[in-house]
Amino acid sequence: MSTWANLNLQDSASPLMEQLIFFHDHRLLILIMITVLVGYLMFMLFFNNYVNRFLLHGQLIEMIWTILPAIILLFIAFPSLRLLYLLDEINEPSVTLKSIGHQWYWSYEYSDFNNIEFDSYMIPTNELATDGFRLLDVDNRVVLPMNSQIRILVTAADVIHSWTIPALGVKVDGTPGRLNQTNFFINRPGLFYGQCSEICGANHSFMPIVIESVPVNYFIKWISNNNS
Ligand code: CUA
Repeated sequence: MSTWANLNLQDSASPLMEQLIFFHDHRLLILIMITVLVGYLMFMLFFNNYVNRFLLHGQLIEMIWTILPAIILLFIAFPSLRLLYLLDEINEPSVTLKSIGHQWYWSYEYSDFNNIEFDSYMIPTNELATDGFRLLDVDNRVVLPMNSQIRILVTAADVIHSWTIPALGVKVDGTPGRLNQTNFFINRPGLFYGQCSEICGANHSFMPIVIESVPVNYFIKWISNNNS
């Protein structure tokens, strides 16, 4: 979860988010190198006294400064494509969770387990516990097993919403009439907070998501208690 003045990405809790952070850092480094080089060149232009009255064209230098940036872009494009396809890969999920966006709350269905379903509302500030997180905590958390492949199916009942968990690298739009799919793998226990990220109406900011990641045997206990 993000706290004050955190300008970076959140710590990853899944292998895909780890890769996304690596890619972000890689791309940022290239960006800094280009900015420094161009900044230096532009600054130095103020102090140059070289004049060439007969300079009209320079084929070689133009070839170089066209092809070189194109090659640099490839160093961003190929890792980006690798990640894009990696994010889309589904690897034998052991749990499937369906989440449905509503104005303005999420509802969840565990279709593998006797179709357990519940709604998840944000806890209003005046009802918040002293250790609760304002605008972030919900009444019913999504409990999921750690160290397992989880498939998430996202849809919406009214307008477009987006089921987004930064620490897990998950961001899927819930669109009415469509069913979107992605998968993730949580590699530690804990609480992971997320928010809707499609502008979906007046209370868009007030439909957070909380995932409670627990060991598999705890998850089985939880799911069987809800089954009875
Ligand atoms: Cu739902 Cu924004």
